[in-house]
Amino acid sequence: MALFGQKKTYDTSELKVPVSLGVIMDGNGRWARKRMLPRSAGHRAGAENLKELVRNCCNYGVKYLTVYAFSTENWSRPEDEVDQLMKLFIEFFNKYDPELAEEDIRVRFTGDIESLPEANREVCREAEERSKNRKRMQLIVALNYGGRRELEYAVRKIGQEVKEGKIEPDDISEQTIAAHMYLPDVPDPELIIRPSGEMRLSNFLLWESAYSEFWVSEVLWPDFSYNDLTQAFKDYGRRDRRFGGLSKEDH
Ligand code: FPP
Repeated sequence: MALFGQKKTYDTSELKVPVSLGVIMDGNGRWARKRMLPRSAGHRAGAENLKELVRNCCNYGVKYLTVYAFSTENWSRPEDEVDQLMKLFIEFFNKYDPELAEEDIRVRFTGDIESLPEANREVCREAEERSKNRKRMQLIVALNYGGRRELEYAVRKIGQEVKEGKIEPDDISEQTIAAHMYLPDVPDPELIIRPSGEMRLSNFLLWESAYSEFWVSEVLWPDFSYNDLTQAFKDYGRRDRRFGGLSKEDH
């Protein structure tokens, strides 16, 4: 019996499902502290819950799910916690690939992957390679990711192309910048969910979140459930996305 169970589709009549969703998986440490457990136990519970989120997003029909797993700032955590997290990432993609395959989920990574330990780079490469023809949903894992680092990467690539005479500085547009980000084919997230009550972006998808709706909940990431996701999609369905323009009623 597969861990992801049967391929299902959920009722979406009273909510709106974003094509592209971002989730900042925050609160593992607090979840562990509340239970007098080590922080690594919180991350482990967080990884188990990621599996749930993936299944639920898939069944709701989300096409691109980007999750914030490790930021460029997270290296400042104690060495032991960083090591445990790196091991957990390796374990997760090896252990759950059969279930991801059964659900037809493609795995991709965004971030400064080249600076990760070799074992992690290897797992990222393998997970991307073996899943590249899967079609139902893309799970995009932000690993060693920073929005500013991504912009630095894009600017450097554009600078190189200018130097080589491939583009003129005056021709650089928003589209040029968007086309030089890590994963230019992934649509900007319409919705970003952040559990654990913090009201900040923490360097997640800075460029891509220009018009994203935010949904914040007090629930700690390992406890974030199907009901919370459903509530987020219901609330999102009631938002009036104007992109700097006017409401339909005001026209
Ligand atoms: C932030 O919570 C969480 C992280 C830095 C790690 C996120 C990683 C996972 C959920 C593990 C699973 C991921 C994969 C890809 C297998 P925190 O530790 O800052 O929590 P706190 O703010 O309560 O201390």
